[in-house]
Amino acid sequence: MVTQISAPLTGTNVPENVRIPLIGLGTWPMTGTECTESAATALEAGYRHLDTAENYGNEDAVGRAVVGSGLRRDEVFVTSKVNRQWHGPVDSVRAGLEAALERAGLEYFDLYLVHWPNPDQGRYVQACESLAELTGTGLIRSWGVSNFTPGHLQQVLEAGLVPAVNQIHCQPVFAQPPVQEANAAAGVLTAAYTPLGRGGELLQQPAITQIASRLGRTPAQVVLRWHVQQGRIALPKSADPQRQRENLDVFSFELTAEDLAAVDALDSATPPDTFLDADEFGH
Ligand SMILES: NC(=O)c1ccc[n+]([C@@H]2O[C@H](COP(=O)([O-])OP(=O)(O)OC[C@H]3O[C@@H](n4cnc5c(N)ncnc54)[C@H](OP(=O)(O)O)[C@@H]3O)[C@@H](O)[C@H]2O)c1
Repeated sequence: MVTQISAPLTGTNVPENVRIPLIGLGTWPMTGTECTESAATALEAGYRHLDTAENYGNEDAVGRAVVGSGLRRDEVFVTSKVNRQWHGPVDSVRAGLEAALERAGLEYFDLYLVHWPNPDQGRYVQACESLAELTGTGLIRSWGVSNFTPGHLQQVLEAGLVPAVNQIHCQPVFAQPPVQEANAAAGVLTAAYTPLGRGGELLQQPAITQIASRLGRTPAQVVLRWHVQQGRIALPKSADPQRQRENLDVFSFELTAEDLAAVDALDSATPPDTFLDADEFGH
């Protein structure tokens, strides 16, 4: 039974005591008041991890929820992500980071990710180098990547750098086993975005609804439990306080090996329409 609700992070220059809560609130595509209110209800419900990004245009809204929550800053784990324009030497990445912290009204992010590799620019390895250098300056506690294929990750590893996290599109029908395996082999934690397949048809799949009925849980809880029980971070987005609570409540039941295999069996190598190819897309 996985009872832990956070996992240790390791990576180049990441200090030993950084832990990441396994369930984080996804905040895209919320902005403004809707985003602040959703992040605030999530924090009230017990969430301690919020996922934002420069590109979502909501670092300000997320920061307001953190500051307004009454929680100590060190009780909440905030992830943000840097856009392509800042990829480059440390001064460039630092400028992007400082602007992001200013928008958020925060002194530091717990995790800062290269949002997309943007291989057309050819500066993602240098961006990683800069993030590793900025880790421990007080501006970020840890760093990682997002949407990195095994090929992109390999370039980073060959530069002698290990990111703490690779945040990727990962859901039962498109779990990207090769990317998960490459992450695991390098000691990089996989974080799943779009973990619920955007809440559509996935949650009506008989393989999932049957397990949910047997356990007296919801299909979303089965899917999120499948993520965390296999050692992934999951970042479900919900603007609804009831569904937020449901999505966090995945630590008091367990899936059997057969359940895990039944969900694994939904995986297809065919990307869903929502999948974006990191060799073609980026910002
Ligand atoms: N790194 C990247 O490039 C990247 C890309 C995409 C997303 N992300 C991150 O990952 C987060 C989540 O991904 P996502 O928004 O694409 O997809 P998702 O979390 O799989 O799905 C969100 C959708 O599912 C619904 N939902 C949530 N909980 C539910 C439940 N218990 N039962 C039924 N429906 C439920 C939500 O509606 P309600 O709000 O109405 O509940 C929303 O429409 C984003 O918010 C963002 O933080 C990162």
